[in-house]
Amino acid sequence: MGMRNVALCALLCLSLAGCQSQPKVETKIPQEEVDRKNPLESNAATIAAGLQAYGDTDCALCHGKDGGGKGVEAKDISMSMHDWRKAGSLDKFTDGELNYLIAKGKGHMPKYEGRETPEQIWQMVVYIRSLPGSGAH
Ligand code: HEC
Repeated sequence: MGMRNVALCALLCLSLAGCQSQPKVETKIPQEEVDRKNPLESNAATIAAGLQAYGDTDCALCHGKDGGGKGVEAKDISMSMHDWRKAGSLDKFTDGELNYLIAKGKGHMPKYEGRETPEQIWQMVVYIRSLPGSGAH
């Protein structure tokens, strides 16, 4: 085929690939991720690092500064958020699941893989777990 067709084909392939990389809704978290243990210990230093990472990026826009889920974005898009200050709010999640959700995102929640280091993501999991009500696992 001629140059023109090659170029056209490349363009088509590119746009198709673009379509495929649209955010897709994750339905099931792989079992090995659910079972993944938090490599970090929950102590004052890790909690402080997690709070720092949480504050340095845009989590509070949706989850609120205190984890209550009343950030401005959450109100605007009217997302239903968990209130991490409420007892049992994160009981159904393992640390592995929280880590996975922060890394990969879900629904309106963007993914932070690549923006935050894997260590920072685990630190945020430790921080979130340290909030009153969210409970340790
Ligand atoms: C644009 C809004 C938005 C931002 C920004 C955001 N989240 Fe979320 N987050 C959500 C929504 C919505 C959910 C619920 C997703 C679902 O289950 O459909 C969620 C879920 C979660 C969960 C799973 C537990 C739960 O409450 O459902 C964790 C953990 C979490 N977010 C942490 C973070 C952290 C840490 C950051 C910043 C690094 C962050 N989020 C930034 C909107 C956001």
